[in-house]
Amino acid sequence: MLDVFDRCRLHDDFEPVAELGAYPYYRPVQERPATGEVVVDGRVLVSAGSNDYLGLSADPRLKEAACRAIRLLGTGTSGSRLVNGSLALHETLEGRLAAFLGQEAAMVTATGFLANLALSALVGPRDAVLADQLIHASLIDAVRLSRARMRRYRHNDLAHLERLLRECDPGAAGLILTEGMFSTTGTLCDLPGIAALARRYGARLALDGAHDIGLLGAGGRGAAEHHGLEGAADLHTLAFSKCFGTTGGAVAGPGQIIVYLRHHARAMIFSAALSPASTAAALAALDVIETEPERRRRALAAADRLRADLAGLGFETGASRTTIIPVHVGDTVMCCRLWRELFDEGVFATAMVPPSVPEGRALIRVSTTALHTEAQLDRIATAFAAAGRRLALIPS
Ligand SMILES: Cc1ncc(COP(=O)(O)O)c(C=O)c1O
Repeated sequence: MLDVFDRCRLHDDFEPVAELGAYPYYRPVQERPATGEVVVDGRVLVSAGSNDYLGLSADPRLKEAACRAIRLLGTGTSGSRLVNGSLALHETLEGRLAAFLGQEAAMVTATGFLANLALSALVGPRDAVLADQLIHASLIDAVRLSRARMRRYRHNDLAHLERLLRECDPGAAGLILTEGMFSTTGTLCDLPGIAALARRYGARLALDGAHDIGLLGAGGRGAAEHHGLEGAADLHTLAFSKCFGTTGGAVAGPGQIIVYLRHHARAMIFSAALSPASTAAALAALDVIETEPERRRRALAAADRLRADLAGLGFETGASRTTIIPVHVGDTVMCCRLWRELFDEGVFATAMVPPSVPEGRALIRVSTTALHTEAQLDRIATAFAAAGRRLALIPS
């Protein structure tokens, strides 16, 4: 027999990267001394890769809500929602999320990944899933788990999506999967076009709002609100690890579908429920999302400013107009080298290499939050200028 352990080596690309001291992953943060800062290897760095767009993870109101929940309910939930892990607090959060998104019901899960995985209960081997080429791994895994046939359409390419819809077996059920705001590129899905195609071909549409719910739209209700199409998607999934400043996730949609998922989604039934602290923090975050729209404006304005600085230096920053600024590099080793140079310049960014992005499309993912100061944005731009020139990625 072959030994399964023989395959367990680092990706070939990482060996030269590790030799150069530019391995960018699993770098432990020791402290967060102030907003927008992290301590790594004993050095204070400007954080330039956080998904905490509204700056809520250290907000005193969320911390206090989490502490209160721990005092009342303890640190764990002891089991899955179905059997013994359900809390009244989960139900309060579900009611609030459903009302916020204008949906009949919501189901809270232990992570955003599990919220997406729960969608696997909706389709089976005879069904067709049409998915944007850039969707998150959790959605891909949901389809794999369901054994439905997955066809990928080029990012936001409506003609391609329509061709795939036309090719579907008319006897199959169809589900379209897209992100509202794509996690690696920061681009928005073409919701008007996708929703129209879903209607025309009778497919259901699930919208992953992990990055945009809380951030986009005047009320923070995400990409659907941004497009003025709040009723367009059949289901919404959320991740509390971004705008909600904690962990956890949810699926929101028609009441009957949520009841079905509660009883059929293995990600819900066989995983311990969201902790009291995270549930209470998510509720407190929702209060802030509903009442402090200026946080969204600040996070987006910071990105506009930084994007202009980076593009002005000669970096390719793509088509994003959101808080995610992809700095395209292409080659994986060069991307990790740029990450290391930025690290040495005092900036902690995120290197995204395959399989998080397609082959040859490695990028540094920069993101801004409502709490980044002008001085911190300056430091990020200055670090990119120095690092980019040293690596000859931009003109000197
Ligand atoms: C688009 C998208 N969906 C879902 C998830 C999963 O969320 P979580 O990390 O909270 O489990 C992520 C997180 O990386 C994401 O970017």
